[in-house]
Amino acid sequence: MKKYLILTGAGISAESGIRTFRDSGGLWEDHDVEQVASPAGFQQDPKLVWQFYKDRYAQSLSVEPNIAHHALRKMEDELQDNFHLITQNVDGLHSRAGSERVIEMHGSLSTAFCCGCRANYRMEELDLSIAIPLCKKCGKSLRPDIVWFGEIPYYLYEIEQHLKECDVFMVIGTSGSVYPAAGFVMTAKLFGAHTIAVNLDRPDNLGFIDEMHQGKSTELLPPLVEKILGRL
Ligand code: OAD
Ligand code: ZN
Repeated sequence: MKKYLILTGAGISAESGIRTFRDSGGLWEDHDVEQVASPAGFQQDPKLVWQFYKDRYAQSLSVEPNIAHHALRKMEDELQDNFHLITQNVDGLHSRAGSERVIEMHGSLSTAFCCGCRANYRMEELDLSIAIPLCKKCGKSLRPDIVWFGEIPYYLYEIEQHLKECDVFMVIGTSGSVYPAAGFVMTAKLFGAHTIAVNLDRPDNLGFIDEMHQGKSTELLPPLVEKILGRL
């Protein structure tokens, strides 16, 4: 059986009501990205950065996974260990759709960790009325568990193994402009995978895509998954 590897970005959650990054002129929900998504921004104004992620966390819980997230969950139900999903999204919508083999390479809105002892916390166990939540073990400040600009994404070794092993690599709703994720399609192709993209606009790394499906992921992905599973 063929091994499928999927990479998703902000576009797959757009129709759940979460805005993408590049479409909003370099702003993330009206904030300067450097201010709210860099270690320097956090050092400068931790209260503002925490408020921003508390809002994003609340927003992520107020929206629902859409039929594109569900289509990927169905694909996983059938393919089991021949399916892996890497996401750049931090909204948790793949897991809420029931996906289990999810690699959250840019972290998650639903977790935080201590800047001192590195202890991990779930947002739901924190008192979010406090401006900067503190570690219960060492008393130092917690920070959102998001990979910020200039930081190294999570699970890169594991991702590289999947990129080398997959037969089909499919990218959905990502502009192909933020590295290292933008380079995955090239790696997969160089290791022999067939590459597919589902995206509203033409991605920046189009040169490495064998099969481009241009349009909305809620419209194009469900029939594509059915076709892959041999039902159409
Ligand atoms: P971008 O905002 O860069 O790109 C979103 C892509 O989704 C664009 O190419 C759109 O054309 C496409 N798109 C929009 N709506 C769509 C829809 N309904 N169906 C299909 N495609 C659609 O988002 P990402 O590529 O995810 O990093 O951005 C990558 C990273 O940059 C993010 O993970 C984030 C950001 O800085 C961190 O938070 C660390
Ligand atoms: Zn601590």
